[in-house]
Amino acid sequence: MMNLQLNRRNHSLVQKLTSLLFVLIFAFGVIFNNIPVQAATTTTDAEVTNTASFSTDVIYQIVTDRFFDGNTSNNPTGSIFDKSNLQKYHGGDWAGITQKLNEGYFSGMGVTALWISSPVENITTIDPSNNCASYHGYWAKDFFKTNSYFGSVNDFQTMISTAHALGIKIVIDFAPNHTSTAEYGNMTFPEDGALYKNGTYLGGFKNDSQGLFNHESWTDFSTLENSIYHSMYGLADLNHQNATVDTYMKEAIQKWLDYGVDGIRVDAVKHMSAGWQKNWLSSIYSYKPVFVFGEWFNGGVAADTDMTKFANDSGMSLLDFRFANAVRNALGSGTATMKDLYNVVTATGSDYEEVNDQVTFIDNHDMSRFMTLASNNQRAVDNAYVILLTSRGVPTIYYGSEQYATGSTDPNNRGDMPSFNTNSTAYKVISKLAPLRKTNPALAYGTTTERWLNNDVMIYERQFGSNVVVTAVNRNQSSSYSVSGLYTNLPQGTYTDVMQGTLGGGNITVTTGGAVNTFTLGAGQSAVWQYTASSSTTPLIGNVDPMMGVAGNTVTITGRGFGNTQGSVSFGTNTAQVVSWTDSSIKVSIPSVSAGKYAIKVTTSTGSASNSYSGFEVLSGKQVSVRFKVNNATTNYGSNVYLVGNIFELGNWDASKAIGPLFNNTSTIGVYPTWFFDVSVPAGTAIQYKFIKKDASGNVVWESGSNHTVTTPNTGTAEATANWQN
Ligand code: NOJ
Ligand code: NOJ
Ligand code: CA
Ligand code: CA
Repeated sequence: MMNLQLNRRNHSLVQKLTSLLFVLIFAFGVIFNNIPVQAATTTTDAEVTNTASFSTDVIYQIVTDRFFDGNTSNNPTGSIFDKSNLQKYHGGDWAGITQKLNEGYFSGMGVTALWISSPVENITTIDPSNNCASYHGYWAKDFFKTNSYFGSVNDFQTMISTAHALGIKIVIDFAPNHTSTAEYGNMTFPEDGALYKNGTYLGGFKNDSQGLFNHESWTDFSTLENSIYHSMYGLADLNHQNATVDTYMKEAIQKWLDYGVDGIRVDAVKHMSAGWQKNWLSSIYSYKPVFVFGEWFNGGVAADTDMTKFANDSGMSLLDFRFANAVRNALGSGTATMKDLYNVVTATGSDYEEVNDQVTFIDNHDMSRFMTLASNNQRAVDNAYVILLTSRGVPTIYYGSEQYATGSTDPNNRGDMPSFNTNSTAYKVISKLAPLRKTNPALAYGTTTERWLNNDVMIYERQFGSNVVVTAVNRNQSSSYSVSGLYTNLPQGTYTDVMQGTLGGGNITVTTGGAVNTFTLGAGQSAVWQYTASSSTTPLIGNVDPMMGVAGNTVTITGRGFGNTQGSVSFGTNTAQVVSWTDSSIKVSIPSVSAGKYAIKVTTSTGSASNSYSGFEVLSGKQVSVRFKVNNATTNYGSNVYLVGNIFELGNWDASKAIGPLFNNTSTIGVYPTWFFDVSVPAGTAIQYKFIKKDASGNVVWESGSNHTVTTPNTGTAEATANWQN
């Protein structure tokens, strides 16, 4: 892969290095620094499927119905099919994706994972409240069956094995929050939001004698509590505390994992309780650790406390709407500057504990296409992709945007794939940068440092060990900038643009102390320069996936310099059993330790110790979701009720780690002075707990009397109700 080979004249051991880490690791890099960057090697099927790490991947999001019709015989008949209507089915299917896999459309772009529409059976009638068919996959009916318009189980498995043979992972969208629309004014809904299990009717929304659904009044997103228990615009909202629903969702996802799915995009995570989701996720990680990321829709670039908490505590990654909106504002609508964009990169970098594992994008099916936002300016799209593909986070390309597809709001942003042109500039940009995520670990795991910034130009550096990637983007398409006084951690030498000048970028020359000779970044131009170190003997952990689990679950540790001979891995002071070991990826089994947060460390066979990767959450054991409720807990204005108990999941009696504030405003569950919360706790365990009151300044009032107790079930869900003890 000549285009990735760095072109260097001169190298010296004497460098002024800004970070201590860099000093330590650089020595090893320099000895072998003339080894060219390797092309991404073909990954074997086992490697593709058997890891929860997506750090080096580039995801491609497909609205299955709109991508490619590979088999017209499975298309729906009747009014739900109409290729001239964006609200109806258009015929796209898994056979079509398989065909495009075989034709090399994705491999040619360097894409290594496809996120497809939810594959489960959806309603087959038109939703009368919006005249729309279920082509998007968000109106489930039977999570155990395939959407037959997308294909059969056999078609699904053929798509997966075809993808895996090419080193491409498959991520499914999954929407466990709801079934289909069941209420809207006085309308009658032909399918009544009914839920089926592999063809067997379990129940509908209207006469819901088993309590499969929540029955709060209409949509209300004014509080987190209402967002969870009210419906989203009349979609029948599943009651996950119902044991049938809980078991159903755990079993349903296993079915798809058995088919070989490598990742899950969870729809609407803001609209389900964090407790139920953690218990569901824990069951997934115990069954097959895959990469899971949730959709917490967020309209702006500002921090949202609940969203940040979910990103850091839930055990899954989130789609990074803040980053997406920041790139859209700076390069799409032009309503913000590059400085504003960099500020968001800095803020999210400190808000998210695992910022490199958040899933980034510049557009999707719920917002305008980037091309439309940028008033049909192709170079703006290209430059946005440069930033997306070299920034922290796992980048996602929305199908068709690499062909400059247009469209504003739903359903115009979900049109048919306009073409499969492998010569579009955006396709070329992606194909040059995506492979770099595999070869240079600075992109997957590195830190981000601003190196040169004004309102139009952003130059930033990613670094992991001695691996460095420098990205320069000038969004201003009528002014060039002379870049002087730029410093980087690139070793001395001359570097060519990884994109080979596709967007006008040229060479830079790095001299003593990382100083870059003055150069011109032309109007609208961008460039990427990189240095990939040869093998290092200093181990450096880049990522751990997942970051949560129970003893015995498999965890993947990725990075560099682990060595090819097995060493050891510790969780705190405890040694973990090694499942597999390569220089860049280790799988271990979580040791049997008491529940809590642990720092992970790798020690090579020669005794060299890695950085300490903190924050891994070992749970007390297999989890169940329990609804804790307290009646008669009256509070003064500004005070809230929390839950604390004798297990890690309930804060180990530490009031500062108590769960809450609890909810108190859901008519069908509990209204003040009743408070409640759905919490993921260990199964089959006798738990002691109490409720506490905390005021705005953090003063705590404990319940008096003895502790409450509950013995949690081995499976299913439970409710633990108590009266506040004065
Ligand atoms: C968010 C999805 O992205 C959106 O397209 C969908 O309509 C809603 N969730 C409901 O499933
Ligand atoms: C922990 C104790 O075990 C519990 O019973 C008590 O209520 C709280 N601490 C507060 O003192
Ligand atoms: Ca079809
Ligand atoms: Ca809900």
